[in-house]
Amino acid sequence: RNGGYEGWLRYTHIEDAYKREAYSVRCSQLQIMGESPVIHTARTELAAALDTMLGAKPREMNGTGGESFGIIGGTIDSFTRCEARIPEDCHLDELGEDGYVIQAEETGPIWLFAASDNGVLYAVYHLLRLLQTDQPIGKLSIRETPVNGLRMLDHWDNMDGTIERGYAGNSIFFRDNRIVADRDRIRDYARLLASVGINAVAINNVNVHREETKLITEPLLPDVAKVADVFGAYGIRLYLSVNFASPIEIGGLDTADPLHPDVSAWWRAKAKDIYRYVPTFGGYVVKADSEFRPGPFTYGRNHADGANMLADALAPFGGHVIWRCFVYNCLQDWRDRSTDRARAAYDHFKPLDGQFRDNVLLQIKNGPMDFQVREPVSPLFGGLSRTNQLLELQITQEYTGQQRHLCYLVPQWKEALDFDTFARGEGSTVASAASGALFGTKLGGMAAVSNVGDDSCWTGHPLAQANLFGFARLAWNPALGAEEIAAEWTAMTFGADPEAQRVITDMLLDSLTIYESYTAPLGVGWMVNPGHHYGPNVDGYEYSKWGTYHFADCNGIGVDRTVRSGTGYTGQYALPQYERYESLEQCPDELLLFFHHVPYTHKLKSGKTVIQHIYDTRFEGTERAAMLVTRWDSIKRSIDAEIYRLVRERLVQQAEHAKEWRDVLNTYFCRKSGIADELGRTIY
Ligand code: GCU
Repeated sequence: RNGGYEGWLRYTHIEDAYKREAYSVRCSQLQIMGESPVIHTARTELAAALDTMLGAKPREMNGTGGESFGIIGGTIDSFTRCEARIPEDCHLDELGEDGYVIQAEETGPIWLFAASDNGVLYAVYHLLRLLQTDQPIGKLSIRETPVNGLRMLDHWDNMDGTIERGYAGNSIFFRDNRIVADRDRIRDYARLLASVGINAVAINNVNVHREETKLITEPLLPDVAKVADVFGAYGIRLYLSVNFASPIEIGGLDTADPLHPDVSAWWRAKAKDIYRYVPTFGGYVVKADSEFRPGPFTYGRNHADGANMLADALAPFGGHVIWRCFVYNCLQDWRDRSTDRARAAYDHFKPLDGQFRDNVLLQIKNGPMDFQVREPVSPLFGGLSRTNQLLELQITQEYTGQQRHLCYLVPQWKEALDFDTFARGEGSTVASAASGALFGTKLGGMAAVSNVGDDSCWTGHPLAQANLFGFARLAWNPALGAEEIAAEWTAMTFGADPEAQRVITDMLLDSLTIYESYTAPLGVGWMVNPGHHYGPNVDGYEYSKWGTYHFADCNGIGVDRTVRSGTGYTGQYALPQYERYESLEQCPDELLLFFHHVPYTHKLKSGKTVIQHIYDTRFEGTERAAMLVTRWDSIKRSIDAEIYRLVRERLVQQAEHAKEWRDVLNTYFCRKSGIADELGRTIY
């Protein structure tokens, strides 16, 4: 398999004999202590990669750390057990779960120490990354601990093999309503994920339909267990999305009322079944009372009642309930200006803060609406102070070009993570709320909807792999920079040519602003074709029931979400963010239409009117999209032919489709506003 299948784990023979020799001297023998499946993975990954890069299989040692060179790794426990020597200056005492230390002097062994088996595996991948990207391994003093406990990928895969909002082929887990028998591809996926520290995965869609409801039944659990084992060997726990109405649909009860004793007894028995087959099972992901999915509201119960009942059933086995906050009224009337979808999650969940069990995590989308290219941060971050939280991002590019357009999302995620909620004064970032550090909540982390399918390069657009990689790196450490991550991914994926590295990194970094500048303007969102959400359609959702309006008419555009005259959404933020969004003067340009309804002649901070901004950015964005093709062509010689072709095909399509966006939006707003473009460019 080629064309991007290896992803960023592209180990190649090191051609430079001098460099190879230098690495070989240190890495020609190894010892990874321990026996668990994860340790076994660490050992084989290390040996295989070294073999490829150095051209010789490393020798396996089995001494007790007295060797004068080689790679020696294991958990602190395993070192202690075999009475091996640990260098004194390693300070292993405060190494958190999954953390590791890589320590080496100019000569002598390279030490890998970790608190857990996962940590050993992560240390191995880290060391390999150094070799793969040509870095010196003389004196090493590396210490890493993940900021987030849970680093999770959600799959929206259905058992018929389709993927909801999938743009990279079919499911790698399911086909024809069964779990796939050949698990090689799942293993290769697990390997990619483990290499960047992912430790949890939910394999089925949050919309749990009839077949998927049966995943927790005995005919299917043996196959679920096999998939769990594949992931388990890479330190990844398996979760399943479950149907809240399961007791009715597969349990023969006539209610799913969370407070009914038969219902809780059913879920308790169910947990026992599951753990009998899958002892490492992570827990449930639940979408309830959302977009026609069943939930506790049917029985007049609230979401804490629902989540806690499931949590109590899983608690004896150490399982989690990941309960989604994407709950809103999807049967709205466009005339109704008081109901505001953006308010919904906070209105539902803020009053329940502190009422959830400590094995429940509330999974909150980064924005209050639904993964638009530009949204403010969900006010639940900072709003909830006594509840475990999980930040939910969308890697699959539903609203950001569907893996046909280049859109590197890390800068968008960074903005969300760095956003200051001021919940406990300055510096109360979303990253710290999600990790649990801000309020000292027990569990926390980041989850994202995966962009992977059975496509040859996994992600449809080969460069969309950067988003999968980038999410995982941020989940490990939200303080990493978007540029740093892009450069790292590019170096690993495309190899040593510095010019190619620079061009690709720059293309990635420009791509989000390019995409934003030809699609829906100034934070207003949507304007897409209904259903599949690809391509421009300004009024596509304007008169439907989903609550996603822009309210454009001949006088102006935007949603008044102020406390003073609108839906009051701004009031969900703490000061000073509340004031900043409430005030027309202070509101940042890029979110103006999310918070305010303004005339087309309203002047932005940039000095331009809203209408002129719409025209200018659409023209510029389209030109910049076309330039991406030229930039890509400039490095043709350094890129694998198949990847070059795949990316080029998509960039050409993006440039074409950007023109459509430009023209559809410009014409619509020119006609609505009656105001001409100052520069007299072609508007149809
Ligand atoms: C979006 C998406 C749906 C998905 C939903 C969710 O609305 O379009 O396909 O089910 O988000 O996150 O639950």
